[in-house]
Amino acid sequence: MEELYRIENLGKSFGNKKVLQNINLKIFKGEIFTFMGPSGVGKTTLLRLLNLLEMPTTGTLIFDGNDNAILQKNNVMRRMSMLFQRPAIFNTSVFNNVAYGLEIRKVDKKTIEKKVIDALAIVGLAGCEKQKALTLSGGEAQRMAFARAIVFKPDVLLLDEPTANLDPANVAKIEDIIRKIRNELGTTIILASHNIHQVRRLADRVGILLNGELIEVNTKEQIFTHPFDARSYAFINGEIIY
Ligand SMILES: Nc1ncnc2c1ncn2[C@@H]1O[C@H](COP(=O)(O)OP(=O)(O)OP(=O)(O)O)[C@@H](O)[C@H]1O
Ligand SMILES: [Mg+2]
Repeated sequence: MEELYRIENLGKSFGNKKVLQNINLKIFKGEIFTFMGPSGVGKTTLLRLLNLLEMPTTGTLIFDGNDNAILQKNNVMRRMSMLFQRPAIFNTSVFNNVAYGLEIRKVDKKTIEKKVIDALAIVGLAGCEKQKALTLSGGEAQRMAFARAIVFKPDVLLLDEPTANLDPANVAKIEDIIRKIRNELGTTIILASHNIHQVRRLADRVGILLNGELIEVNTKEQIFTHPFDARSYAFINGEIIY
């Protein structure tokens, strides 16, 4: 398996508040990797570090073999896409919302049209191009945000609690979309989730964060049946409040 990320001894402090420390991790191309951990443990911060939106206080981050990724972040970030819990919606058509990432990359009009239509088909919004984005339902808006995030075929899609505010039917649709993006486009997916059931349904591998440290990284099967750290067991079984 080829590495997409390698992070070594990564740490992040805000002022004198240590949020993350001593994070060591490899993420492989094409996998669905999930971070779990209590609220406030640093999941969003870690995704922002992986997306190069935030600079680490200590340690190194190697992206696709490039150990200068942080210094070259303007180029490297173009290969990444992050979807926030509450996606921004521009007050224009669905088409324009999805086309945005291609327009800033100066892609020609014909190609933009084809790619937007393909992306909307993947998320089940074919035919909605002309609708005003602000009139979409919550679940549709989230799916549009997925189309916007994948339209330029990023190497990695970072998802921060992508289904937190959705009803079960839309959660299932979003999970299908996540699988489809990985299976059909080969995109590496890194997901922060509170939802243990969702992790069970989606993840290949899981990392558990506790008190600012990555206490265990393991396959989903192992983590749910034979975790090697007693605290992982406690977390998964709801004995650690989050
Ligand atoms: N820019 C910042 N300045 C100061 N503190 C910050 C900043 N960003 C995050 N933090 C702090 O870092 C800690 C981790 O926050 P983070 O949002 O990463 O947690 P989380 O695991 O995503 O939580 P949740 O599950 O509630 O989303 C929190 O204590 C938060 O207040
Ligand atoms: Mg968060």
